Amino acid sequence: MAANPSEKKETHFYYPSEAFAQNAAIPGMNAYRALCRAAEEDYKGFWAELARENVLWRKPFTKVLNETNPPFYKWFEDGELNVSYNCLDRNLENGNADKDAVVFEADDGTVTKVTYRELHKRVCKLANGLKSLGIQKGDRVVIYMAMSVEAIVAMQACARIGAIHSVVFGGFSAPSLSERIGNAGAVAVITADRQIRGGRHLPLKAIVDDALAMNENHAVENVVIYRRTGDKIDFVEGRDHWMHELTQSQAEICEPEWVNAEHPLFILYTSGSTGNPKGALHSSGGYLLWAILTMRWTFDIKPTDVFWCTADIGWITGHTYNAYGPLAVGATIVLFEGVPTWPHAGRFWEIIDKHKVSIFYTAPTAIRSLIKASNENAQFAPEQYNLSSLRLLGSVGEPINPEAWLWFYKHIGKERCPIVDTFWQTETGGHVIAPMPGATPLVPGSCTLPLPGMFVRVVDETGQELPWGQGGILVINRPWPSMIRTVWGNDERYKTHYWPEELGGKLYQAGDGAIRDPETGYFTITGRIDDVLNVSGHALGTMEVESVLSAHPMVAEAAVVGKPDDLTGESICAFVILKNELPKGDEAKTIAADLRKWVSQEISPIARPKEIRFGENLPKTRSGKIMRRLLRVIARGEEITQDISTLENPAILEQLRNSL
Ligand code: WTA
Repeated sequence: MAANPSEKKETHFYYPSEAFAQNAAIPGMNAYRALCRAAEEDYKGFWAELARENVLWRKPFTKVLNETNPPFYKWFEDGELNVSYNCLDRNLENGNADKDAVVFEADDGTVTKVTYRELHKRVCKLANGLKSLGIQKGDRVVIYMAMSVEAIVAMQACARIGAIHSVVFGGFSAPSLSERIGNAGAVAVITADRQIRGGRHLPLKAIVDDALAMNENHAVENVVIYRRTGDKIDFVEGRDHWMHELTQSQAEICEPEWVNAEHPLFILYTSGSTGNPKGALHSSGGYLLWAILTMRWTFDIKPTDVFWCTADIGWITGHTYNAYGPLAVGATIVLFEGVPTWPHAGRFWEIIDKHKVSIFYTAPTAIRSLIKASNENAQFAPEQYNLSSLRLLGSVGEPINPEAWLWFYKHIGKERCPIVDTFWQTETGGHVIAPMPGATPLVPGSCTLPLPGMFVRVVDETGQELPWGQGGILVINRPWPSMIRTVWGNDERYKTHYWPEELGGKLYQAGDGAIRDPETGYFTITGRIDDVLNVSGHALGTMEVESVLSAHPMVAEAAVVGKPDDLTGESICAFVILKNELPKGDEAKTIAADLRKWVSQEISPIARPKEIRFGENLPKTRSGKIMRRLLRVIARGEEITQDISTLENPAILEQLRNSL
């Protein structure tokens, strides 16, 4: 199968400027290769040295990696530390006390700045408050909050006392929340009265009440509520506590609970494509180490940077690159409560301008929607704002199609800022494949090369490594410090799902397909393995087709799913959002014919979508992931029986269903 055509056209590399490269943590490909070689030659020594340099240990470790019971690996297992101490106290001791830790921009534009000293104080007070409720090391605490300083305080307070937090994204419904509270065996929930998004007040505490009512066997004894809006809520005496009342008279110092490096830091549920959500369990030491290192390597973080990661704390990106990584390296972060398109589609650019953001990390889906918005209304185009503070851009969550990459590069980075396309997962804790911005020549649409210390391969169904140029299954073939430790309460599922027997049981299967460029070895992620289509015996990555459709001048965004077909086994159904208005009747037919021809030309007639449906948007989760399983149901003309509670825009389903 031909490689992505838009990539073929884009044969030249994009290099960092000399000034950027010179000042970078990894200042060139030689430095990158030297680190990779160091890891290759002495794997344990490589990690041990980095762990000693970057993490503050209360008790130094003497053991690096314990491999006696694979795939249950242990890192730095006799070391002791506290993650909150590493993120907060460290900054009070090294001169950052009065530096802004968090610049919070509320939905309505109000700005609150919190220094490291202040953050430390708030975390200690809440940590003492939680202790006063009897919450102890190892207890699980569910955090159900929106983007707020208090959410970060809550996470850090749990870490300080050794409690294991499990953040549940504030867009989840009561049944989903209830399931997670139950699965985690949480003894407490931290929430807010309400959350504010796009000018609307949405419930949080009421959903917690519903979630708890749904499960009689839950173990929750306390609910702590941050007062965000002051809207009326029901209050259960004895169980519910206002956060401000709980913390009011608490001491401003809280001695950290020193924990073992393997002590769990958090559980984060991943919305698996099938079955119940899996609670990915992360450790303290190894996770923190990689959060710190990737801040230094991938984001090249400097003391003067203003770092903005738009991901919600309900997702792994918000954990590693809002709540932990940036604080552990003493950075200033921007935390945004609202949505990118409210009150207008220039909001992201306005925030970059206003807070002089220097590193901006977001998702391709946000980029694509803002491209569309700025095409529709020049008033909200990035050109209306001063983006000169930017020096580095990042992308995460899904493959970024070359067209969106180039727009991001040109219109946001002004051809000055490298783009780090970071491939990773909830389970990996931090980046796996990403360019090192001062070193790696960039190619739009490729996440380029693995980070030093990450051993990534493309293999066939038997675990055999494939030659470059041949698409296959992406695996990681050595344990790494920030890896998932298990699926909470289900060791068996961890073992069978992530370390499949078919591949020999020794390879971590990421769940994605990938292909390496025959010349450079650069990785391109071809989509989830479960998203691979088989048309007339030809394997086609859904992303491959989507990328081509999105590269068509008329198309804003496209999603492709398979549909059973009598003749070809599977046929392709494409859902397409145009840059212009929704086409109707003959116009729609003509455009669909054009798009078929285009795909046919750019990939092959096999990849030509049999069906093309136009809509004004795609069904997406609130974190911006396209919900392909719903598209599959629509394509098959079946009734939707799945849970759509995480859907941002349910009305779109009806429109797409009627679009033929
Ligand atoms: C996808 C998000 C291509 C991939 C950090 C992965 C990507 C899943 C990229 C994990 C990228 C993430 N290029 N695909 N740069 N980043 N993915 O657990 O399919 O929410 O397996 O973690 O997102 O999603 P998760």
